[in-house]
Amino acid sequence: MRLLLIDDDPGLRALVRTTFEAVDVEVEEAADAIGGRKLARSHRPDAIVLDISMPQVTGVELCRALKTDAETIGIPVVLLTGDVVTEQEAAEAGADAYMRKPFSPLELLAVVERLAGGLHGVPFRAAGRRRPEEQLFLYARDLRHLLEIERGQRVLLQKAYQETVSALATALETKDTGTRAHSQRVQRYAIELTRAVARELADDQSAQYGFLLHDVGKIGIPDEILRKPKPLTETEERLMQTHTVLGEQMLSGVAFLQGAGLAVVRHHHERWDGDGYPDGLRGEEIPLGARIFAVADSLDAITNDRPYRRARSWEFARSEIADEAGGQFDPDVVAAFHDVESALREIAGELAAA
Ligand SMILES: [Fe+2]
Repeated sequence: MRLLLIDDDPGLRALVRTTFEAVDVEVEEAADAIGGRKLARSHRPDAIVLDISMPQVTGVELCRALKTDAETIGIPVVLLTGDVVTEQEAAEAGADAYMRKPFSPLELLAVVERLAGGLHGVPFRAAGRRRPEEQLFLYARDLRHLLEIERGQRVLLQKAYQETVSALATALETKDTGTRAHSQRVQRYAIELTRAVARELADDQSAQYGFLLHDVGKIGIPDEILRKPKPLTETEERLMQTHTVLGEQMLSGVAFLQGAGLAVVRHHHERWDGDGYPDGLRGEEIPLGARIFAVADSLDAITNDRPYRRARSWEFARSEIADEAGGQFDPDVVAAFHDVESALREIAGELAAA
């Protein structure tokens, strides 16, 4: 939408421009009636906002001229009035709406959008008569209102991210081992472990998304390898291992996964002793999120059916994890596992019942 703003007060023009441009309305300005009329004829804006009190030709006169000119008669005009012009005078001049100064820029936006048609106005309640010095106060109130709307939308957007990521993880599970809710369980285990090992990482949204999407690269691995009921051949194993790098490549452009999240996706199969993949990192070279996740992932793998073997008991998993402290796993994370084991077991029970 394009708006033409005709007002001799540069401060007011800046105010209106800021509000309208924030919602992608193009604003053209004129400081007097003559310039304004020229622009109205040549640029055919979708609406005109016109100040009443201008030197030489007043807003009322210009409005009358615009509304008797075949070139501009169809363009809606909003008159900005002081105290001197009544609603009736504005209507007689042909104005489609009028607004008394000082006005709320958001109210003006709502009026303009209504007149220009087809656009959704910002929900807003008009207030009664105001004193002239309130203009900036009204602007501040508008900003606060917009911030509230923006904050609400951010919450919705965050929720949409989470739902999309969960949907992707679930879709992957049906392709992968057929193990339902694997991603959800490992994510919950990993978050619980992270709280015990590194609190600040537990609050990192990126890490949480990484836990959920760790195996997304498996989308690129053939089904017959993913679902093979026997151990993989060496070639198949090598191909399978590429899911880490593939996953990182797939997600590298996703802003909310940058940092800890991507590191989990790439490094979740590294081993503390350096025998893992894809980079053979060792000890603390391995990003912490990935070290934590490796324990969560193994716990879930051991305690659930896999194409090539049945689920083992929780106790079996506990002793396997303990045995791998300093081998496959970071000893500190294994210690944390023992500290929060009962909470992890509760998560397993809760998700099995769901
Ligand atoms: Fe994996």
